[in-house]
Amino acid sequence: MSSQGCVHLVGAGPGDPELLTVKAVRLLTQAEVVVYDRLVSDAVLDLVPAGTGRVFVGKESGRHHCSQDQINAILLELASRHRVVVRLKGGDPFVFGRGGEEAAFLERHGVTVSVVPGVTSAAACAAAAGVPLTLRGLATGVRFVTGHVRNDEPLELDWAGLADPDTTLVIYMGLSSLPRIASKLIAHGLPPALPVLAVENGTTPVERRLLSSLGRVHADLARAAFQAPTLLIIGRVAALANAPQALEEAAYA
Ligand SMILES: C[S@@+](CC[C@H](N)C(=O)[O-])C[C@H]1O[C@@H](n2cnc3c(N)ncnc32)[C@H](O)[C@@H]1O
Repeated sequence: MSSQGCVHLVGAGPGDPELLTVKAVRLLTQAEVVVYDRLVSDAVLDLVPAGTGRVFVGKESGRHHCSQDQINAILLELASRHRVVVRLKGGDPFVFGRGGEEAAFLERHGVTVSVVPGVTSAAACAAAAGVPLTLRGLATGVRFVTGHVRNDEPLELDWAGLADPDTTLVIYMGLSSLPRIASKLIAHGLPPALPVLAVENGTTPVERRLLSSLGRVHADLARAAFQAPTLLIIGRVAALANAPQALEEAAYA
């Protein structure tokens, strides 16, 4: 199939519209249609002009969501009818966002694709909390890791490689696998007292932060009823977070 349109895979950042790139804002105003998912904040969507088409393809509680195949088909069909299609994805489209699959599918079908990076939630949540992901003397590196598992299978990661006290671990989609993540990391040598910062809805008006430790973070987050989207920052640098006092009190009560 040949197409006149271009699909722009655009990073929407973590939620705060001021963290969008200038290019993302320009494309939002030029788009004929914007395809977005549940991680895109209302404040970002407010920047889409009233007359622009909007297609929601994300999951919402109580509603069916589109499969990746359906999303690919929607993008292909829109690209055949529109010159400028924006596929808006939370954070960065190429960090745990399936942007790579969408780009490959569209290119295979003759559609021109451009990718506009976004501020990934790891960078945004850490910065907002005052946590440097690397810091001389505390962390020589950082690793972005997914906690997502398919079909309730147990999460299998390189636990020995991840359990490095000099590396900050940032876990995306880690809430449901958190008991396994924590116990595996402790079993492979990380101390139960290692600081963990959890950030829910980072950079939005409803952001919550909770500072805990590897040994107790699951219980603390359950007590505080943290939900997705939540990011976990594991490592010595997490102790530098300026977590709100009220949340700390709730977590340690
Ligand atoms: C499918 S991944 C998408 C990641 C996204 N592409 C990025 O670069 O941030 C979704 C996960 O990202 C994390 N996440 C995204 N936005 C977030 C936010 N505003 N606050 C906290 N975590 C967030 C959560 O772990 C969430 O479950």
